[in-house]
Amino acid sequence: MAEIVIVGSMNMDFVVNCYRLPEPGETISGKSFTRHSGGKGANQAAAAGLLGASPLFIGARGADDIGQTLEDNLNRQGVKTELITTDIETGTAHIFVTDDGENHITIIPGANGTLDSGDICSVAERIKDAEILLFQLEIPLEAVTEAARLAAEAGTTVILDPAPAQKLPDELLNRVDYLLPNKNELERLTGTTEIEEGCSQLLKRGVKNIILTLGGNGAVLANDKGIKNFTAPEIDVVDTTAAGDALAGAFAVALNKGFGLEEAIREGIYYGSAAVSRPGAQSSLFTSEEFAEFLSSRSE
Ligand code: RIB
Ligand code: NA
Repeated sequence: MAEIVIVGSMNMDFVVNCYRLPEPGETISGKSFTRHSGGKGANQAAAAGLLGASPLFIGARGADDIGQTLEDNLNRQGVKTELITTDIETGTAHIFVTDDGENHITIIPGANGTLDSGDICSVAERIKDAEILLFQLEIPLEAVTEAARLAAEAGTTVILDPAPAQKLPDELLNRVDYLLPNKNELERLTGTTEIEEGCSQLLKRGVKNIILTLGGNGAVLANDKGIKNFTAPEIDVVDTTAAGDALAGAFAVALNKGFGLEEAIREGIYYGSAAVSRPGAQSSLFTSEEFAEFLSSRSE
């Protein structure tokens, strides 16, 4: 039985590297095109798999080659999969990475968008038996809410990465043990750009811990004990795609291994930072050996 269960999206990422984005109506030449396995849910699962946690990923795919490729890649990265196969095509993401390392993403949800509460009920036992449920918002809110309900009832620890940004109902938020927004997501959730104000609003709405991720500036932990800052290592940015997913996956693995909360946050920050040094989504994730080497090279 998998101790970490990830419920979420899987996408094939179609990535264009370019000097800059075209202006409206303008055509420009880019630098290169690549396809990478991605999707926020699958990326989180791959991170946990590569770190040796043997997680279970629950999601949806089409009966197409892309779906098969994504599933095979997850399995190869140490992830068990329980996928609903639909008539709708597998999800895709269309990503422009500009020279500054920033990414601009449009998603076609495809099969991801078909996951409903009935699908989640059909895997209820897997969620209830898990130690940790990790999920994001690239699948319908209905499925997310049902998964959180089942987990909270069973005492499964709930970690939510509220990406892509959207407003969320209290009935979901008050089941979340660890919420991992970035600044933009915090703003969308709370309507404020003030970190302390946003966090205290979410704590009042029932979230137990907020780990606000700040990219190269580390993270902030807010809970009933107060607020604490964490720094990130300096990295030459190649591609920030999947950095947040990497952080979330590694954080879940560290908690599952019994790390204290602050240690687990540090582990997540370093693993997410490592992923920005490589291109692509799952292709940028470090194995546990590579990560150990990364950490020791940082402490020299
Ligand atoms: O978080 C990065 C991911 O977002 C990409 O892999 C892409 O698929 C989009 O879902
Ligand atoms: Na990356």
